[in-house]
Amino acid sequence: MIPASSTVAIVGATGAVGREALAILQQRNHPPANIRAVASERSAGGTINYGGTHLPIHTLSVAAFEGVNISIFCTGAELSARWAREALNAGSHVIDNSSAFRLDPGVPLVIPEINGDLARSAGPPRLIANPNCSTILLLTALEPLRQRFGISRAVVSTYQAVSGAGAPAIDELLSQTRAVLEGHTPRPAVFHTPCAFNVFSHDSAVDPLSGVNGEERKMIDESAKIWRDTSIPITPTCIRVPVVRAHSASVALTLCSPASEADLFHALHAGKGLSIIDDRSENHFPTPLQAVGGDVVLVGRIRLDPSMPMHHHGQSRHVCLWLCGDQLRKGAALNALQIADLLHAIA
Ligand SMILES: NC(=O)c1ccc[n+]([C@@H]2O[C@H](COP(=O)([O-])OP(=O)(O)OC[C@H]3O[C@@H](n4cnc5c(N)ncnc54)[C@H](OP(=O)(O)O)[C@@H]3O)[C@@H](O)[C@H]2O)c1
Repeated sequence: MIPASSTVAIVGATGAVGREALAILQQRNHPPANIRAVASERSAGGTINYGGTHLPIHTLSVAAFEGVNISIFCTGAELSARWAREALNAGSHVIDNSSAFRLDPGVPLVIPEINGDLARSAGPPRLIANPNCSTILLLTALEPLRQRFGISRAVVSTYQAVSGAGAPAIDELLSQTRAVLEGHTPRPAVFHTPCAFNVFSHDSAVDPLSGVNGEERKMIDESAKIWRDTSIPITPTCIRVPVVRAHSASVALTLCSPASEADLFHALHAGKGLSIIDDRSENHFPTPLQAVGGDVVLVGRIRLDPSMPMHHHGQSRHVCLWLCGDQLRKGAALNALQIADLLHAIA
């Protein structure tokens, strides 16, 4: 755990991820005196609520990092790229939620349940990248299967909440929903298309040659880096759904060695950072609403793929599952703070 005596800066404290990081620190009773809330000029001078204490909001500047032990950057990639080094130079560890450093070969990209060893080495202030939210949720759920049976291919379809696009996207879904119910035609602003009562391909840019969008590319490239294995093909299709918070994904896997259904449940039960909800008789499986506010990835619909050939003894290399996870917590703020915990375990 981060010691209570450590000063933690939340850069982008007023955003969707920043507010969640503050909520987690508050749940952990981190003292308000040791939190530095940092945001843009727009918010500077105001305050932000931290368990009843009104924390002053500081502008992003070199002075904001004075005396800070650990900085959690919850800003866009451009700002992180510009300011993370300033924080390091001021003597602070940096954990960055943006995509700025994720594929930098010199910067570890960490999910503690998978490659936490990379965040443990002692030394000067460290810069560590937090992976993409859908990637964190997917890889956390798959890790026990990868460890036990190996994975030779994954086909993934995501159902991503609008808050993945930041706090303004939450307002957009709520206000558009109200507008539609009142008989108006909503005007999109954050997204290029209406998000209320709609489902659409992820809003990141699409590569004109491959047809792969930015979110799908992150899942492919970041998984390879985290797994330290470039040999596992992933075929993602990333989609936005009109859900405020928590991402879901449908996953079809080809395993390296065959497993029975019981083997899958057994392996997943022993996994870290996940919880199984799988009640066929009650048709009860994970939902994004159940995942909201939780620390674990919910996994269900665990089954062998009936369209593919079975091995003997009811075993198959082709398996399917469904997952839901709070992308603002395990997909962002919580994973970042878990990395901070690892750094402080050796500090
Ligand atoms: N949302 C997710 O589910 C999610 C998941 C994983 C990773 N991420 C990544 O996490 C980062 C933050 O995402 P978010 O969704 O929290 O975004 P957001 O809700 O739009 O928040 C952005 C934050 O950055 C601050 N900011 C903007 N310009 C600034 C400036 N010039 N100086 C200082 N602070 C500035 C904003 O402060 P003001 O309020 O003052 O403008 C706000 O606190 C992004 O890199 C995103 O890709 C997001």
